[in-house]
Amino acid sequence: MAFELIRRLADGRFVSGEELGQALGIGRAAVWKRLKNLENYGLEVHAVQGKGYRLSEPLELLDQTRITEHLTPQAQQAIGKWHLLEEIDSTNAYLLKRPLPGVLQVALAEHQTQGRGRRGRPWISPLGRNIYLSLSWTLDGGINQAEGLSLVVGMAVARTLGRLGLMDAGIKWPNDIHWQQKKLGGILLEMAGEAGGPCRLVVGVGLNVKMAEGQDQQIDQPWVDLATITMGQPPSRNKLAAMLLNALIEVLQEYQQHGMAKFLVEWRRYDLVSGREVSLHLPDRVVTGYAQGIDETGALLVRTEQGVQRFVSGEVSLRY
Ligand code: BTN
Repeated sequence: MAFELIRRLADGRFVSGEELGQALGIGRAAVWKRLKNLENYGLEVHAVQGKGYRLSEPLELLDQTRITEHLTPQAQQAIGKWHLLEEIDSTNAYLLKRPLPGVLQVALAEHQTQGRGRRGRPWISPLGRNIYLSLSWTLDGGINQAEGLSLVVGMAVARTLGRLGLMDAGIKWPNDIHWQQKKLGGILLEMAGEAGGPCRLVVGVGLNVKMAEGQDQQIDQPWVDLATITMGQPPSRNKLAAMLLNALIEVLQEYQQHGMAKFLVEWRRYDLVSGREVSLHLPDRVVTGYAQGIDETGALLVRTEQGVQRFVSGEVSLRY
């Protein structure tokens, strides 16, 4: 498994081929082959005679102890089960397939091979770089509750970024995280369950921390990562994962207690759409008008020629 090799190289120091071979129980030629294979993960290996091999850039791999160190007592108490994954198709798909959760479950991955974005788009998920996080629990309140939830999850991400001093990141309704008109993160809510029976909700959060070079060509819209915004000083992935979990659990508890009303004022601080001319892409048509914020359920209000209309779904694009 490539991961054993990656762990041994993660800190960016030189390791000799011999040491790697011994640790993995394979010969020098096989070590070389596996090192070459790391390029498929977007990792670059430097080889220096007499010193061995090292990654061109160190990687901060996920570490449950380090994540837990930064969790609030509420978050520690709320999380019932952890899944720290090396490679997975999608953390959302993974949690959707598990038995109905009796407790709040968290999945975090180093790498997603089929990361899922909204509207069937792929979510590019290079190894060891960004945050790929999903939360899952059983929803008692039924599907109706989920409407506002999709917005408050985005607000948890915006709160986290604010706590990191990044005040100018905001949300494009319903929950795209943007910075200077570029996508920094996204949220995908998925649900499974039978009508009338208990329903499982999975909330997936993707946040670009330091996108791998070369991988970005696959992204079909302007994007940015925290490394660029912070001029090469992105926060620790483990700390960031914990801060996101803290904020997510905080907003979920607030939402459960007070509903959407609690968030309406704060929403305005992050709202990148209000007052702007927008096109709202619906399955069968495109509506244009001026965005007027959200109503008490989280629906988008748009002033059109026919008056103010409310929308619970759709893809917003801003007109410049
Ligand atoms: C979007 O298109 O804006 C939503 C992106 C959501 C990506 C995250 S990464 C963790 C979780 N697992 C997935 O497959 N997708 C979500």
